[in-house]
Amino acid sequence: MDILTAIKTRSSFRSFLDEPVPSDLVREILAEASRAPSALNMQPWEVHVVVGSERKRLSKRLIRSYKERGVTCGPGASRPLPGKFIERARKCADDMGPLIRKMGYDFKEYVNEGSLNFYGAPCAIFIFLDESFPPERMVDIGSFLAFLLLASFAKGLGSCPVGLVNSYSEELRDFMNIPDSKKLVISIALGKPDPAQPVNDFRAERADINEFVRWLD
Ligand SMILES: Cc1cc2nc3c(=O)[nH]c(=O)nc-3n(C[C@H](O)[C@H](O)[C@H](O)COP(=O)(O)O)c2cc1C
Repeated sequence: MDILTAIKTRSSFRSFLDEPVPSDLVREILAEASRAPSALNMQPWEVHVVVGSERKRLSKRLIRSYKERGVTCGPGASRPLPGKFIERARKCADDMGPLIRKMGYDFKEYVNEGSLNFYGAPCAIFIFLDESFPPERMVDIGSFLAFLLLASFAKGLGSCPVGLVNSYSEELRDFMNIPDSKKLVISIALGKPDPAQPVNDFRAERADINEFVRWLD
């Protein structure tokens, strides 16, 4: 698959087959993701991969905490966001909702528990950044993430970035024995998407570039 096809056709998947992903394939994808640019080529990403029964055991723990604490998917902003961002988030939920209800699930429950269950994916990837780095290095992790999503898609796998795990990162660090000095930036569900599930037909819209580009000539 050429790069532009991958960019134009990748999307997030939210239902995976319970089939393992070969570990060599995951290693290849991680090596390809590490071609991402980073400041001074420091490659600050630290990656943990959890598969199979360990992934399921981890999800049970995360979902138990979710049921106790009830932190749900949301923008996680510290102050009110401009309306257009809230509207885009609402539109995304409004468009995805009917597909999830068609599968017989409640939207919020599917997205919250589903996120912490990595939507059934056999492989979960966690990207950490050491706390000694300044916040600007998040850009490097973002590049790594984008390369990883595109490389997996080009190799026939599906993925979904999962930010909700960040709200349960203490439980995650405890499960994986990771010190507090390592900050979880993003988690990713990785596997073979289930083609029979309507939610996987969801395609999130994008704003016209005139909405976010200012051009000075
Ligand atoms: C940082 C980040 C966090 C995300 N967290 C979640 C999440 O917790 N649960 C989920 O279902 N999708 C999550 N997503 C996926 C977004 O909803 C998705 O990327 C967006 O709607 C655009 O759709 P697309 O990836 O299909 O193009 C996350 C994406 C990013 C980049």
